Amino acid sequence: MNRDDFGILKSGIIYFDNGATTLKPKILGEAVADYYDNYSSNAHRGDYALSIKASMKYEQTRNLVKELINAKKKSEIVFTSGATDSLNKIIFGFFRNYLNEGDEILLTKSEHASNLLPWFELKDEKNLKISYIELDSNYEVLIGNVEKAISPRTKVISLAHISNVVGDVRDIKKIVALAHSKGILVLVDGAQSVPHIKVDVQDLDVDFLAFSAHKMCGPTGVGVLYGKEELLNDIKPIIFGGGMNADFSPDGERIYKALPDRLEAGTPNIAGVIGFGYVIEYLMNIGMENIQSYELELKRYLVERLKEIKEVKIYNENSQSGIVTINYEGIFPQDLSIYLDKYNICTRAGNHCAKILKDEFHVKNTCRISLYFYNTKEEIDKLILALKNPKIKEEII
Ligand code: ALA
Repeated sequence: MNRDDFGILKSGIIYFDNGATTLKPKILGEAVADYYDNYSSNAHRGDYALSIKASMKYEQTRNLVKELINAKKKSEIVFTSGATDSLNKIIFGFFRNYLNEGDEILLTKSEHASNLLPWFELKDEKNLKISYIELDSNYEVLIGNVEKAISPRTKVISLAHISNVVGDVRDIKKIVALAHSKGILVLVDGAQSVPHIKVDVQDLDVDFLAFSAHKMCGPTGVGVLYGKEELLNDIKPIIFGGGMNADFSPDGERIYKALPDRLEAGTPNIAGVIGFGYVIEYLMNIGMENIQSYELELKRYLVERLKEIKEVKIYNENSQSGIVTINYEGIFPQDLSIYLDKYNICTRAGNHCAKILKDEFHVKNTCRISLYFYNTKEEIDKLILALKNPKIKEEII
């Protein structure tokens, strides 16, 4: 599917590390180069044609993000430097003021560091409580366990839509409905979902959503913070400077702009945001539903083929995304990843920044194969061949 759009694939590389970042279609580089070569100028600050063009293109991407996730308003879309930045801005800009001593935050042990560390910091700062939703025997989040974990002090549930190691697709719609019925807000880390499935924030009714451009064919250094307007209006900026203020005076009186400008201080990554717009159109043309169903087909094939190898343990064969996490008996995951690299196969080994998942997995490190729409069954066959190599252990030593 669309492999010719990815120049890097011509090198013969088999790229299975899409959970970390994806490859970029040529259209991204072209859009970014076009900005730098032909209308390089600041956005929202110039009264001349070049700057007006940059501003228009920048805002065009905001419209495309709105369309992609079906936000109600364009002003609910804030550009950040990535999902981590978005999560920090939500947690320290909104929840720092919203939560009071003793309030409880519900998380899961399969969350990525970016959805745990900011909460740990806030917990210490405000004397909050953190609890974890129990995972089931497949390491997945069941609605019954969410219900069990909620207490009268629970004020927020913060979880990934799709975990970056287990790859389970959480039933966010049900979780949000349950949470809202008890007055609890829900923050969703969409870093592994928005690139792979259709995410509709109005249908899911999520309060906040964070995701990164670079995991969906876009540039590094660009992310999105989505929030319902009424909640975003209560976010305090945590970064201050040009572009976000309407006026200020020597005595410190200041007026900040309306959304979303208030949350985008300083010159943003204009080239990146513009390029991101092009890849959103590109993905929408392929169709998020098509991407999802193709990835699932690939995942099923991968699992089926991995099962032919008795030394391979699969941790998440049932999860409904393109993430497959394995170990090979007697081989340290990092050694496996380095071995696969000899065959031009890129995978990720380690704890994948989900450092407390080991409490559930009972193993600290794994090797992750994460798929995207440009992967193929032929590439999977090559991976299986490398894993079936009778001399695999000798080659590693
Ligand atoms: N969150 C990214 C990953 O899962 C970095 O690899």
